[in-house]
Amino acid sequence: MVNFQGSQEQTEQQNTPPVGPVPLETTDPTSVGGFELLGRIGTGRQAVVYLGRNNRGESAAVKVLRAERRDDRRSLEAFEREVEALGLAPDSLSPRLYSAGWDGEHRYTAAEYLTGPSLEELMQADGPLGGAELRQFAVSISQLVVRLHRLRIHHGDIKPRHVITGPGGRLFLIDFGVAAIGDSALRRRDLFSLASVILYAAGGRFPYEGTPLEISTRTMGGRPDVGVLPKPWRDTLRKCLEPNRRFCPSAAGVLRTVGRYGSWA
Ligand SMILES: Nc1ncnc2c1ncn2[C@@H]1O[C@H](COP(=O)(O)OP(=O)(O)O)[C@@H](O)[C@H]1O
Ligand SMILES: [Mg+2]
Repeated sequence: MVNFQGSQEQTEQQNTPPVGPVPLETTDPTSVGGFELLGRIGTGRQAVVYLGRNNRGESAAVKVLRAERRDDRRSLEAFEREVEALGLAPDSLSPRLYSAGWDGEHRYTAAEYLTGPSLEELMQADGPLGGAELRQFAVSISQLVVRLHRLRIHHGDIKPRHVITGPGGRLFLIDFGVAAIGDSALRRRDLFSLASVILYAAGGRFPYEGTPLEISTRTMGGRPDVGVLPKPWRDTLRKCLEPNRRFCPSAAGVLRTVGRYGSWA
């Protein structure tokens, strides 16, 4: 069980998948930014992320831009956005940034290694959350977004793979490659994603699933499927998921709603 409320106690992990590095591939660099690379801990569209260790024995998640993206302006901008946002966000919300730059041909960032699991891994191992665990998760992720938005940091890419547990079982957000400061469209997107990850945690599904036709019909009609949520949450979260932005609550509004539990459907 993962303790989303962040006590300092060591969390007990049941059925959680083996998290941790897998061996390097032959084409991988072996050292970047003063870190010896010991294994791969993740991959994304832009980058491969490695477990690194420096000569003082300190570990880091070393994110290296993929070779085929080195000349891609948008990918380079994503690294810049991430460096800026990680510099602004407190270390309790996002991994602490140790260093960033170029090492020869490699564009990289070195940041705190969060051992996980991510929300995606947690769901794959244990299935949906319910009861107090769901509420704890919803409160924690909403608090995270409230605190980011108070700083006018808009993440723009909140999804189960980017919601990850760190020290003491606390929740963190990773991958700030889309993030921007004071961007109202991204702010709106964060609310959509906040409701989506809560829905995913509760039922393992996203609000608009089905065939492409079903998805577009539901989306255009603003009829997200929120039936899996506790009843008292449905109205507020539905408003985050509807196309009409006028009715979308703030992250603080979502937090108020999920902080109140009420009865189950
Ligand atoms: N600080 C970190 N600690 C642990 N794992 C990480 C960290 N940063 C990234 N990862 C892992 O690497 C994957 C890819 O990183 P991400 O930043 O999302 O790259 P991309 O920008 O290419 O999508 C993540 O989904 C996660 O599994
Ligand atoms: Mg990513």
